[in-house]
Amino acid sequence: MQGIELEEKIGRNEPCWCGSGRKYKACHMAFDERINSFARQGHIVPPRRILKTAEDIAGIKESSKINRACLDEVEKQIKAGMSTQDIDDIVAEVTRSMGGIPAPLNYEGYPKSVCTSVNDVVCHGIPDKNEILKDGDIINVDCSTILNGYFSDSSRMYMIGEVSEDKKKLVQVTKECIQVGLDHVKPWTFLGDMGNAVHQHALDNGYTVVRQIGGHGIGLEFHEEPFVSFVSEPGTEMLMVPGMCFTIEPMVNMGTDEIWEDSGNGWTIRTDDGLPSAQWEVQLVVTEDGYEVLTW
Ligand code: MF3
Ligand code: CO
Repeated sequence: MQGIELEEKIGRNEPCWCGSGRKYKACHMAFDERINSFARQGHIVPPRRILKTAEDIAGIKESSKINRACLDEVEKQIKAGMSTQDIDDIVAEVTRSMGGIPAPLNYEGYPKSVCTSVNDVVCHGIPDKNEILKDGDIINVDCSTILNGYFSDSSRMYMIGEVSEDKKKLVQVTKECIQVGLDHVKPWTFLGDMGNAVHQHALDNGYTVVRQIGGHGIGLEFHEEPFVSFVSEPGTEMLMVPGMCFTIEPMVNMGTDEIWEDSGNGWTIRTDDGLPSAQWEVQLVVTEDGYEVLTW
């Protein structure tokens, strides 16, 4: 059995693990017991280490202010003729000016401050001064930020000049997938309920969803448990409980869901058929009655 049973035992009258200063029995004891009952039924349940305290959430919200400001500034400036390196420069400058650190830079050897994924690039496109945005392109800018050890992570799509109707629809439906996912974030239900709803919305529109790459827990580290799938089945995957913080970031493809890694740099992922892919990413915390968006 996994989960809370394996966590350190706390006495009823000892201070709660959440940092509230209250006695465990008056604070999270019933909550932990509720999680235990799901674990006993064989469900995957969140380990205590990924549950965020009020202080953690406050820290993540400060980080998120920088994260949003970066994407707002990109939104103002992005246009045809600009290079993806120019976007990297904007993100690096806004992040530094607000006292933050770009999370991607040097992360597992990643060389830049942001990911810029154009057209058939699914994710992890590396900014390049020789990659020039042109009329009709769609681009995902995926921005991740560290402030005082707290991580924020979100991404948006931008359309350059006049974009074809089919690309516009892909971008729009992928954005709708985020709202569908958020609508299914409810404590004491499962990540698979959410992931399945996202998948279904993409399928209903004739699209596919990338299977191998997904969302993730986040907060005190860039990538924490759980892995968040957007091709999952209802009633499966990790139980959602208040205090869990994760991303919803489906990669939606116009054609095949098959992808390949560009051998040139070891990062960039593209669609097998060369058709476009879109992605939006939101970071949220599960609350008592649903969710709160932290950054988008
Ligand atoms: N921002 C991406 C995510 O959502 C992670 C990119 S890792 C990097 O998980 F090193 F490529 F930046
Ligand atoms: Co992410």
